Amino acid sequence: MKPKLPNREPFAHLPTRIERLSRLSQHLGGPKLFIKRDDQTGLALGGNKTRKLEYLTADALAQKCDHLITTGAPQSNHCRQTAAAAAHFGLGCSLVLRGEAPANFTGNLLLDQLLGARLYWTGDRPEFEVINEVTSQVRNMGHKPYIIPLGGSNVIGATGYVVAMEEAMVQFNNMDLNFDFIIIASSSGGTQAGLVVGAKAYSYQGRILGISVDHKGEVLKTRVEALSLATASYLGLEGFSIEDIVEVNDDYLGEGYGIMGDAEREAIQLVSRLEGILLDPVYTGRAMAGLIDLIRHGKFSEGQQILFWHTGGTPALFAYADELI
Ligand SMILES: Cc1ncc(COP(=O)(O)O)c(C=O)c1O
Repeated sequence: MKPKLPNREPFAHLPTRIERLSRLSQHLGGPKLFIKRDDQTGLALGGNKTRKLEYLTADALAQKCDHLITTGAPQSNHCRQTAAAAAHFGLGCSLVLRGEAPANFTGNLLLDQLLGARLYWTGDRPEFEVINEVTSQVRNMGHKPYIIPLGGSNVIGATGYVVAMEEAMVQFNNMDLNFDFIIIASSSGGTQAGLVVGAKAYSYQGRILGISVDHKGEVLKTRVEALSLATASYLGLEGFSIEDIVEVNDDYLGEGYGIMGDAEREAIQLVSRLEGILLDPVYTGRAMAGLIDLIRHGKFSEGQQILFWHTGGTPALFAYADELI
């Protein structure tokens, strides 16, 4: 059964390439590694939120909204891509960012400003309180706000990754690839939920493993399962069941969200130097560190094929300049 898809604004650069990671595979030994380049989705330096925003902006425009509001960490890739999508359509954009304004606006924060977003800091207040305030202000100025949740992770955003799975399946067939595992960095869960629903809808036979970036495994698994079910229902996929298909690994949380340790640094350096591909310090560096560790512990056999789905985030590298080398 095929999903009934909502409207889409097709601004992403798709399909993103699948490339062989020959030198990294050789260096690590074991399975054959590939990468899907969603760091190259094209929207103001790309990343996974671009696919979600194709559907979220289509919904905002259909509702005649003229101002996007969203929230995230100071180095949020989701906020940067939302600001870019807003600029692309001539919409206003307000970003509610966690904590206090830093002394140095670099990485994604620099780009948020360049893209014309208005920034609000929560300090120690709960995010929803500041979002409500900003929403009222936007309304009082005569605008119609559209609120996008953290990470764009609702059923509309996750649809972007249901469709991404269809794109990937065509590539797998054309390239004669048969992946045993897809590995992704998982946080607010929308990417993984979309892929899981897409895997069922388009008959992907392998497994999908989310490396948790910030949540305990049970918390993330429950969230991804709930969003998968809701997304399947939103897309009219009857009889969708999640059984054991949501797999999450929380062994690589390190010192916590956004804290880059030795494992992330090693992963970023290895992939840069062996493949000429940049990962990010918060999400893909952590997920790749997890994949490397799993390979070193013999989790995968020699003949297996693994797809690392690169979800972007590279602008944050500049905010970690002092810790990377
Ligand atoms: C670069 C990058 N990778 C992965 C993720 C995780 O995606 P999701 O929030 O859909 O789980 C994010 C989320 O912000 C991200 O910015």
